[in-house]
Amino acid sequence: MKTVRLGIIGVGSMGHFHARSVLEGKIARCTLSAICDIDPERLAKFNDAKDVKQFNKSGELIRSGEVDAVLIATPHYGHTTIGIDALQQGLHVLVEKPISVHKADCEKLIAAYKKSKKRKQLFAAMFNQRTDPKYQKIKKMIEDGELGQFTRVNWIITDWFRTESYYASGGWRATWAGEGGGVLLNQCPHQLDLIWWLCGSPCEVHGFCDMGKRHNIEVEDEVTAYLKYPNGATGVFITSTGEAPGTNRLEICGDKGKILVEGDRVMFYRNEQPMFEFSKTDPRAFSKPPVWEIKLPASGSGEQHHGILRNFTAAILDGAPLIAQATDGIHSVELGNAMLLSSLTGKGVKLPMDGKAYERQLKKLIAGSTFKKASLKKKAEGDDMSSSF
Ligand SMILES: NC(=O)c1ccc[n+]([C@@H]2O[C@H](COP(=O)([O-])OP(=O)(O)OC[C@H]3O[C@@H](n4cnc5c(N)ncnc54)[C@H](O)[C@@H]3O)[C@@H](O)[C@H]2O)c1
Repeated sequence: MKTVRLGIIGVGSMGHFHARSVLEGKIARCTLSAICDIDPERLAKFNDAKDVKQFNKSGELIRSGEVDAVLIATPHYGHTTIGIDALQQGLHVLVEKPISVHKADCEKLIAAYKKSKKRKQLFAAMFNQRTDPKYQKIKKMIEDGELGQFTRVNWIITDWFRTESYYASGGWRATWAGEGGGVLLNQCPHQLDLIWWLCGSPCEVHGFCDMGKRHNIEVEDEVTAYLKYPNGATGVFITSTGEAPGTNRLEICGDKGKILVEGDRVMFYRNEQPMFEFSKTDPRAFSKPPVWEIKLPASGSGEQHHGILRNFTAAILDGAPLIAQATDGIHSVELGNAMLLSSLTGKGVKLPMDGKAYERQLKKLIAGSTFKKASLKKKAEGDDMSSSF
């Protein structure tokens, strides 16, 4: 195979962006062969692309013989069903985040991948923020032991501001039945993935989620969560879609120092002597280890979505290692589910969590929903998709 024939399922905001990237030649050795959407208006936007076959049923695209791989960019529940179908048909699959709405669905999707007969099938996830040089640098520093023993992580990610118009732009958005959650399911999968990728899995989560606090929606739009890690480290994760200007500030601490990311600035405050050792050995009462302030050389935000698609293509054609295996995607879903489950039950949730317990809660929320969605408006023309990342 010299080129990957890609099919994109769901060509709404994100799928449209991916499709145009491929059509504009931004992904070398990848051709857009087919697209699928249940909305004919979304398909019609590609009538100029004469060589791209159009489908209105994902199953038909998957079985068409026109594609080697699919990118799934539908609303979240479809990731599981369409993903399983594509995997069972032997296609390579790249799924948008989150890989599924809840942990039990992630397990079904991953089981389909593991059962797949074509062992060389690839299953990747669009965790585009993993291509950001800042997070890559931090990951390497942690792996190289430069931070020492992990002690604390705090992420305030409240700059996901969204308007009422955004929530009205899709019938599925911000409903338990259509989307399966709010800020934890739609905006935060990136940070939940990164916090897992960088710091590992916590063993306990306490979540405090406010539903429809800042918007006329039924799902969570403001969250504060406390995380406890197996080695005693702690974490706090704060997010909101109802705060402007908002903050994006990540701190990761170890006994050898502290990493701070805010905006494009990445700092490493390095303890000259590891603090646990210093505490035990320094004879003075009010001393602290001397600190070196280091500005890390990591600028820009990397190749993002193009980077993940280029990597997916290279993985299929050349066997390159995937930047984001879709099987990793269960961890960010579990973290978000645990925050919601804890908030709904008023109790801490131990990880690994019982996926079925959360699924039961979610089904109760869906069954009990009396929420009526505000009249749908079409997405404003000229909305810049890149401002949604
Ligand atoms: N990686 C990122 O940075 C990023 C950014 C935004 C959205 N997303 C993700 O992309 C996905 C889509 O979000 P969006 O904002 O583009 O939503 P959207 O509503 O704009 O688009 C979804 C499209 O899927 C179509 N669709 C629904 N069911 C379908 C089905 N069964 N078969 C085929 N098409 C179907 C809809 O008609 C619509 O055109 C979500 O998973 C979202 O979380 C990722």
